[in-house]
Amino acid sequence: MEGKASLLDNMIGVGDMVLLEPLSEDSFLENLKKRFDHNEIYTYIGSVVISMNPYRSLPIYTPEKVEEYRNRNFYELSPHIYALADEAYRSLRDQDKDQCILITGESGAGKTEASKLVMSYVAAVCGKGQEVNKVKEQLLQSNPVLEAFGNAKTVRNDNSSRFGKYMDIEFDFKGDPLGGVISNYLLEKSRVVKQPRGERNFHVFYQLLSGASDETLKKLKLDRDVSKYNYLCLDSASVSGVDDAANFRTVRNAMQIVGFMEDEVQSVLQLVAAVLKLGNIEFKPESRSNGLDESRVKDKNDLKEMCELLGIEQSVLERAFSYRTVEAKSEKVSTTLNVAQAYYARDALAKNLYSRLFSWLVTRINGSIKAQAKTRHKVMGVLDIYGFEIFEDNSFEQFIINYCNEKLQQIFIELTLREEQEEYIREGIEWTNIEYFNNAVICDLMENNQNGILAMLDEECLRPGTVTDETFLDKLNTICAEHQHFESRLSKNSKFLTDHSLPHNCFRIQHYAGKVLYRVEGFVDKNNDLLYRDLSQAMYKANHNLIKQLFPEGSPAKINLKRPPTAGFQFKASVGTLMRNLQTKNPNYIRCIKPNDKKASHIFTESLVCHQVRYLGLMENVRVRRAGYAFRQAYEPCLERYKMLCKKTWPHWKGPARQGVEVLMADLKVPAEEYSYGRSKIFIRNPRTLFFLEERRRQCLQDLAALIQKIYRGWKCRRQFLLMKKSQVVVAAWYRRYAQEKKYKKIKRATTVMQSYARGWQARKLLRQLKHQKRCEEAATTIAAYWHGTQARTELRQLKEEARNKHAVSVIWAGWQGTKVRREYRKFFRANAGKKIYNFTVQRIIQKYFLNLRKNLPSMSPIDKSWPTRPYSFLDGVHTELRRIFHLWRCKKYRSQFTEEKKAVYEEKLEASKLFKDRKALYPSSVSQSFKGDYLEINKNPKYQKLHSAVDEKVLLADTISKINRANGKGTPRIFLLTKKSVVLADQKTGQVKASVPLLDLASVSVSKQSDGFFALKLKEGSASAVKGDFLLSSERLIEIITKLYRLSAANAERVPLSVDISDEFLVQFKTDKVCVKFIQGSPRNGNSASCKRKNNRLLEVSVPSTP
Ligand SMILES: Nc1ncnc2c1ncn2[C@@H]1O[C@H](COP(=O)(O)OP(=O)(O)O)[C@@H](O)[C@H]1O
Ligand SMILES: [Mg+2]
Repeated sequence: MEGKASLLDNMIGVGDMVLLEPLSEDSFLENLKKRFDHNEIYTYIGSVVISMNPYRSLPIYTPEKVEEYRNRNFYELSPHIYALADEAYRSLRDQDKDQCILITGESGAGKTEASKLVMSYVAAVCGKGQEVNKVKEQLLQSNPVLEAFGNAKTVRNDNSSRFGKYMDIEFDFKGDPLGGVISNYLLEKSRVVKQPRGERNFHVFYQLLSGASDETLKKLKLDRDVSKYNYLCLDSASVSGVDDAANFRTVRNAMQIVGFMEDEVQSVLQLVAAVLKLGNIEFKPESRSNGLDESRVKDKNDLKEMCELLGIEQSVLERAFSYRTVEAKSEKVSTTLNVAQAYYARDALAKNLYSRLFSWLVTRINGSIKAQAKTRHKVMGVLDIYGFEIFEDNSFEQFIINYCNEKLQQIFIELTLREEQEEYIREGIEWTNIEYFNNAVICDLMENNQNGILAMLDEECLRPGTVTDETFLDKLNTICAEHQHFESRLSKNSKFLTDHSLPHNCFRIQHYAGKVLYRVEGFVDKNNDLLYRDLSQAMYKANHNLIKQLFPEGSPAKINLKRPPTAGFQFKASVGTLMRNLQTKNPNYIRCIKPNDKKASHIFTESLVCHQVRYLGLMENVRVRRAGYAFRQAYEPCLERYKMLCKKTWPHWKGPARQGVEVLMADLKVPAEEYSYGRSKIFIRNPRTLFFLEERRRQCLQDLAALIQKIYRGWKCRRQFLLMKKSQVVVAAWYRRYAQEKKYKKIKRATTVMQSYARGWQARKLLRQLKHQKRCEEAATTIAAYWHGTQARTELRQLKEEARNKHAVSVIWAGWQGTKVRREYRKFFRANAGKKIYNFTVQRIIQKYFLNLRKNLPSMSPIDKSWPTRPYSFLDGVHTELRRIFHLWRCKKYRSQFTEEKKAVYEEKLEASKLFKDRKALYPSSVSQSFKGDYLEINKNPKYQKLHSAVDEKVLLADTISKINRANGKGTPRIFLLTKKSVVLADQKTGQVKASVPLLDLASVSVSKQSDGFFALKLKEGSASAVKGDFLLSSERLIEIITKLYRLSAANAERVPLSVDISDEFLVQFKTDKVCVKFIQGSPRNGNSASCKRKNNRLLEVSVPSTP
């Protein structure tokens, strides 16, 4: 339903005053108030927007709002300034119509804010892009700069624009902004030197003093203290809610964005400072000889500083404040200035300096923001000009301002009425003239070239002779007296002679917006706007670029005797240009109203609003709008909106929209005089008719809503039902499938079981048959086998029987033969022959045994264990005995061959076997060794000559052995000698005796069970040899050495034989300590020899390689 929304929906009061019913001033105000109280600050009069200043920020300018109003029809949504901006922008972009937005209203009504809102809306909806954004930014940022220099706090508005501003924004064919041109109108420069009570000078002065850095101030020779400057009014130096310092930064930033160079900014600030300095220059009178007063600068310090700032020669300026040069034709006359004239000159300079600076700023900004491309532009002009002003004391400025407003009202009347009129003509509607007040007469009073007030003022100013404000008033009194809108005490029109509200030095004009009393004082001066030539020349001489530019008339080359055009003339000309400009454009009106005088939110002062409504001519505006037809709408949207009111057009109308509307209106029985059909629009004369339509529509909408609800509910339920039905089918299908599948599986399982049973049964049957068959086959074989076996056994039995029978026969026969023989031969045998035969047989057997034994005797070696087997068991005892005898004999035979020496050797071997067999693992290896004794052949070897001679007894054993070092377990070779009486250890190389131990001193010998050759000779305690401790020695011939030692001790009957301890752990006495020698099985790492290691002072460990 989008697009069919309307401002008629959800309306608070009436959104469009045209529809106000009944229309009266009271209802108008009431409607405004009602809407204002509901925060609806915008109301339409047709396409004119009335804007009430809310004096607080409302949440209606958000980006969302911008989106909402973007590309929507004007009446589609509730009234908003964005709707107007959108309408203007779209007709500019889409219909190629240049637009102007005219914002009017009195000071503080919100014109400047409205202009900013329009600009920001257009900036938000128009094209985007880097270049475009830069242009937009510059256009928007020109505002803070101009506001700082051109706005001031007044009693009505804390940020009142003290100049008129018209800004043309230029767009390309796509609607993208290209740039802009700003025109400024009449800055209120009198404010520079004097401000009314409770008001301030222009913002920039305060901003500079509070926002600039100390350094900047120092450079500008300024003091932060506002009270130091005469031009700055003290009673409202700061405005609540305004942060001058922060605004100064904003302005500096804006200037930068707009494109001001840093030196330009500095120049501008210098000029601002200069104005402040200028205000502080004071004068004192100095009497002169001719009786006239001459002014002198009082304290030259400010003058000096100002001159330094602007690069002006002090004396030149000082002179300009004291003298005035009047040039007439070729003559130059210099006159002195009195103090008042000096002050006048000073203020004139300050005002001119500032207003020219302001104009320069506008030109400079235009230089930055002007469109680059030379193509044709579409233009949207935004006019934010000072509103109608009625003060207690109105002067030239108010006259000028109000003149401008009259002109704007004129153009408003002209354009709205013309537009209205044109629309009727366009649409072919009959047009009847409406009465409205046309302010053309007032404009004429003010601007007429012959007898207009402005023209007469100029005439007075240019007239030679004494010209004063009074002469000007006299002139008015004579010339304008007849005018309906001119009132003056002394005019010929006697009706005001007694009007005491009209002072003598004033005249009154009945403006369209009310009567205004103007005091003539200052009119002439202000219109002349005189700046003494000496001052402009002094300025031109300044060594300051900007100042020079601002005072071009001071240039000696440009000496121009003609008077410059008057202020009034200039203003009239620029207003004329503006009006012509506006007339070429499509106007859009925003009429600002201020709800109260207190700048307060939520207060609606009826009288104040009423006054504004009156002078803005809003009622007339509505009346004009309604004079013909209050409401008009194109046929399509009208049909679309009301077609539900008639059965023929609802829901769809096939024919042209106009016919549809005609059918509709006829059907609704709306009286024919209430509406007319235009070419593209229907025109409704009376709002009542529209409200009737709206009411019918509202009712119908309710019915339609019920219908839609009904259908929707039906549709929803049906849809739900169908969905459920569909779901049910799906569920049922799935369930059936599932059930069938289950059943099928069950049957399949049962079938398989049955099948398997049947197959099993069949198979078993077959198996039984096969088995039976096989058994039958096997039975035959078995039977056959048994049969054959039986046959064979029977046959065997028979054969055996036969054989036994045969044998029995032969035995019997032999027995018989024997019996026969014995019977026969009995007579030939002796009675004991049987015993003899037995003995003979036995002897014969034994003889045979011996003979056999002799033949088979084993070898003579005593170790041969073979022996023939015995032939008969009765010879068992004999056979064993013979074997023993033979062995003994054989041994005897063997022994008998031994020599005495060999015998001794064997005895020794035997002794060794007794000592060591099965007790020490080394023993088996010694069995095959012959115990040679003297291995070194000591008596034959000359090397041992000395040793030999040192031992006086026969050497029983000489060999090289290792003596184990007690400290580290390492072995040292030593010669080991054994004699009958002692053991001698000698050096192996030199043969020198190292130790000699008598055998008697030996207590015991200790060896291990292992295959090593370690042995310890333990000495008897207390013996002489025991002093050095026991010996730990090692020799491969350990078995021989110890056997020999043992035999020697055993041979000696006087002593106990030497004890031989065989153990893997024994103690040895080393000097004073007893050390344990421990043997362990080690891996055969270091070859096959045992290694000895001193583990600690109590343990000597011998690692013996394990015998494989
Ligand atoms: N639409 C608005 N929303 C909120 N405040 C506003 C609005 N319009 C105006 N004002 C307030 O009113 C003050 C005066 O408005 P301004 O536009 O400067 O008036 P004018 O230009 O008509 O003299 C502004 O400073 C602002 O505080
Ligand atoms: Mg303003």
